[in-house]
Amino acid sequence: MAVERTLSIIKPDAVSKNVIGQILSRFESNGLKIVAMKMLKLTPEQAGEFYAVHRERPFYKDLVEYMTGGPVVVSVLEGEGAIELNRKLMGATDPKEAEPGTIRADFAEDISANAVHGSDSPENAEREVRFFFPEL
Ligand code: CMP
Repeated sequence: MAVERTLSIIKPDAVSKNVIGQILSRFESNGLKIVAMKMLKLTPEQAGEFYAVHRERPFYKDLVEYMTGGPVVVSVLEGEGAIELNRKLMGATDPKEAEPGTIRADFAEDISANAVHGSDSPENAEREVRFFFPEL
């Protein structure tokens, strides 16, 4: 399997719950390497552009508001099959449907405050990594 890079965001709910370390530890203990990382508060412009693919969805406005409500931790994870591996570690978008032992099952409240974001395809991973870390 190829070595890939994927973008991870630890969302405001997980940051305010004080579980940044526990989430990063899951990435590391499952073979993903953190090759870039920063903590920041997204502006409405940044969140709006990052989630532009969802612009027409009914939840877009709430999503942008939610993602700008507190600091987030953005990181680039690298490893074999990193995109799928990260998705597996996160669990389903809706924590109610997430497998036990996944990040969302353990730390998320609901589909809006769902603890983490991860790129869902190689194309999006490339775009999302470039969005936050153009220097990479
Ligand atoms: P994320 O992986 O960050 O990508 C888009 C986000 O929109 C998703 O996680 C959810 O947190 C959020 N969202 C809110 N409502 C919905 C919904 N009904 N369907 C999908 N995503 C939703």
